[in-house]
Amino acid sequence: MLSQDILVVGGGLAGLAAALACDPQLKVAVISKVHPLRSHSVAAQGGINAALGNNPEGRDDTWEGHAFDTIKGSDYLADQDVAELMCEKAIPAIYELEYFGVPFSRFPGGVIAQRPFGGAGIPRTCYAADRTGLVILHTLYEQSLRRQVKFYNEWLVTKLVVKDGKCLGVVVFDLQKGEIMPVKARAVIFATGGYGRVYLRTTNAYINHGSGIGIAYRAGVPLKDMEFVQFHPTSLYPSNILITEGARGEGGYLVNNKGRRFMEDYASSAMELAPRDIVARAIQTEIDRRNGFENQYVHLDLRHLGEKKIKKRLPGIREISINFSGLDPIDTPLPIQPAQHYSMGGIDVDIHCASRMEGFYAAGECACVSTHGANRLGGNSLLETVVFGKIAGEEAAHWVKGSSGSKDEEKHLLDAALEVKKKIEERQKREAGEKVHRLLNRLKLIMSEQVGLFRNNKDLGQALEKIAELREDYQRVSISGKCLRFSQELVNIIEFESMLDLAGVITLGALNRTETRGSHYRLDFKERNDKDWLKHTLVALKDGKPQISYKEVHITKYEPKARQY
Ligand code: FUM
Repeated sequence: MLSQDILVVGGGLAGLAAALACDPQLKVAVISKVHPLRSHSVAAQGGINAALGNNPEGRDDTWEGHAFDTIKGSDYLADQDVAELMCEKAIPAIYELEYFGVPFSRFPGGVIAQRPFGGAGIPRTCYAADRTGLVILHTLYEQSLRRQVKFYNEWLVTKLVVKDGKCLGVVVFDLQKGEIMPVKARAVIFATGGYGRVYLRTTNAYINHGSGIGIAYRAGVPLKDMEFVQFHPTSLYPSNILITEGARGEGGYLVNNKGRRFMEDYASSAMELAPRDIVARAIQTEIDRRNGFENQYVHLDLRHLGEKKIKKRLPGIREISINFSGLDPIDTPLPIQPAQHYSMGGIDVDIHCASRMEGFYAAGECACVSTHGANRLGGNSLLETVVFGKIAGEEAAHWVKGSSGSKDEEKHLLDAALEVKKKIEERQKREAGEKVHRLLNRLKLIMSEQVGLFRNNKDLGQALEKIAELREDYQRVSISGKCLRFSQELVNIIEFESMLDLAGVITLGALNRTETRGSHYRLDFKERNDKDWLKHTLVALKDGKPQISYKEVHITKYEPKARQY
């Protein structure tokens, strides 16, 4: 049986940062369902935040100022000690990336360039044109190869194996061989990313099904704050490919069909650079009031930035706009609409990225270490991956050195793999049955129409009922082909179980939370309610049913106040 000291699941930024941080004396491997360079981190565009103070307008920036903006942006649901840790570590993290070889854009004089981003009083987003995720991912991958980290690509993890509250390893589906097998590990770190594809409109890649989050949930680890789903204000219509916030950071305008910069009505000081929850709702409101175009989109106008700036600072989004919509932002406004972009919630972990299960850690978007609260600021997710990925690697290595193996581990792992195999064989034997792609389309529709930007009691209740119906239909799903090698149908079937679980947890948390906070906007409860709801939602699976509970938010020195922008 394949055996590792530490198994990192996910080859994106958080996974690579974790693998690089593990003690090189330990046997460390990364399992990734795609080649690591195809991980969704590659699509991150606009940048990564740190209070370097390189922009003349942000000369006096401090990590405390960054922490305050993050906490205020979170609508005060972030754990303040966690946000402070991330923002303090941001500065050395950027210099470490620079040392690793990340080709950041530069200001004249050579220092790392920084642009304004939403919800930040000061320009502190470091960038590499509009391909920041791509260059960081390539750099960390190079560093991983240099350090001889072992990669198992095109392996899909299907299950966490647990005994007496301790993680023993995972069961994987090796896509190349079409085989199911166990992998033993003394510690497992999940860095499996988000679940954007649960929604119809998303900026996320086709691989983002959130299956890691669902696997942890079914293994008994609670999920935290899942009702907080981020919708990015500017996705390109109709493909929903991300158009970076950096476009507004560079000075882009949002304009309605009257030719007005309508953000004046929603956030008169910050305008286009208000936090994402506010800008996304403003755009959708304009569209709903028939102030948009074709009832679908508004315009992002970059023309006044000029050809030189667009080509230098935003070459990627220019290319995307030309290739996917046939429009050149140099001379045409871009059609944009909000789309699901990010999950603030995730696997419940503490400030050390440790979950309640011994030997199991999580970092990056799949985790909820509670740094983003109810709304994440742009530029803080790349930061979270490198800061908390590293912490997860260090902590897991520390745990492994002090832990010992348990009895019958291998038998337990083999039994778990057998169980997965049997379930697949049962589906293969079915002559006819439901087809997973149909269920997937139904789920996306429910989530988009009833658990989207604007929510209410009736829609959320109905969505829960429809998800329960889908769950029954899922039992009857069959597999068409006999050969499992590279079976995308099997991948979808395996991952759909998690998508159903996540949809249920998001909706349940949203139904229960009778207030508006950050990205969670209730039409029937329009105000934030700190008295009853300044708390994190936890959902755990107990006897096959989701059980909801709450836990306190860590406040250090920033008293919750109304957010004004
Ligand atoms: O708009 C963007 O470039 C996205 C950045 C982020 O999600 O942090």
